[in-house]
Amino acid sequence: MKTYLITGGAGFIGSNFIHYMLKKHDDIRLVNLDSLTYAGNLENLKEAMEDSKHVFVKGDICDKELVSELFRKYDFDCVINFAAESHVDRSISNPEIFVRTNVMGTVNLLQRAKEAWYDDAANEWKVGKKYVQVSTDEVYGALGPEGYFTESTPIQPHSPYSSSKAGADHFVKAFYDTYGMPVNITRCSNNYGRYQFPEKLIPLMINNVKQHRQLPVYGDGMQIRDWLYVEDHCSAIDLVAKRGRIGEVYNIGGHNEKTNIYIVKTIIERLRERLADDQISEELIVHVQDRLGHDRRYGIDSDKIRKELGWYPQTSFEEGIVFTIDWYLENEAWLERVTSGDYRQYYEEMYAKKESRG
Ligand code: NAD
Ligand code: DAU
Repeated sequence: MKTYLITGGAGFIGSNFIHYMLKKHDDIRLVNLDSLTYAGNLENLKEAMEDSKHVFVKGDICDKELVSELFRKYDFDCVINFAAESHVDRSISNPEIFVRTNVMGTVNLLQRAKEAWYDDAANEWKVGKKYVQVSTDEVYGALGPEGYFTESTPIQPHSPYSSSKAGADHFVKAFYDTYGMPVNITRCSNNYGRYQFPEKLIPLMINNVKQHRQLPVYGDGMQIRDWLYVEDHCSAIDLVAKRGRIGEVYNIGGHNEKTNIYIVKTIIERLRERLADDQISEELIVHVQDRLGHDRRYGIDSDKIRKELGWYPQTSFEEGIVFTIDWYLENEAWLERVTSGDYRQYYEEMYAKKESRG
């Protein structure tokens, strides 16, 4: 039996990863460290909480004593760091917390792993250990109409969020270059699927359409994102943790580039059909002020992970978006709970600043 430390496992991708791993492997125990910020939700882990291969620990990745204690108690074989502040708009309003969690938290995990995994007497790393940093394509910056991000594209982040993720990546690389720590970094494009917090484009639009609320499209809506179904991201991380070459970076993406306006119109169309509701129409779309420093296009070249690890996405966008929209319709109570209270205040504050451009 191996034991993995999963951080941020109550968030969107982390909770999907926990479900994926519990189903896929009988011989991996998962210790899930999550501080349950606004984005963390134990409801995402309902079935996992009943599984003896999953242990939930509420705590902060920046907490030195707690993380050291967990290493002593569980003797981890692998750390997979999902925990982060993940929303670009929030990073524009409040960058400091992004530095704390995304940079300082990562450095704390690296340090505690090094203390536990480096054998000072033998002057070598214990065998079979690995640290995986779940990073993002946003560290590469933005693309023009042509070309793709490869693993050797220069790191040129624009937002406070992507800068903090880039900072963390540099520390992971520094631990490999300086101490020879066994690490991998993954850089994935935009994910979608169940349990995504409705501050992000797809669930926010689904939630607003259902309520006949305006659909705030930033700027001209022609920005491009490369969408990947969340389970495909999970399978890629599982493979990298098991078989990724030490010290390597792996891009993850499905060559599925769509404009934001296309995504919004697809959601409108599906919901109008599913709910047989004529009030759902493109008239709900409102073009609002653009995000500051908005990256125009992301597009991932994931040839390396395909060639080296045989990974490729299993879910087409056409299937995945239908599963996702239907999941949000079928899980109304989940959506209502996460959008009550603080969410309403967040929404009013964030979108009041973005007046309609007419
Ligand atoms: P999320 O915001 O849904 O979840 C983040 C989780 O981390 C939450 O459960 C939160 O409680 C937890 N957390 C935050 N601060 C913490 C701390 N100090 N200590 C412990 N736990 C803490 O994020 P997500 O969308 O699931 O993203 C997960 C990871 O994947 C992030 O590192 C993100 O940068 C990366 N990523 C996300 C996407 C995407 O499209 N969502 C794409 C590529 C990479
Ligand atoms: O590329 C990977 C990244 O994808 C991850 O690293 C981030 O954690 C994740 O949040 C996501 O970042 P984006 O900024 O691309 O995602 P978001 O859902 O916030 O926005 C997607 C696009 O939609 C972006 O161009 C901004 C636009 N948008 C977003 C919202 C919330 C709108 O037009 N209106 C909105 O209300």
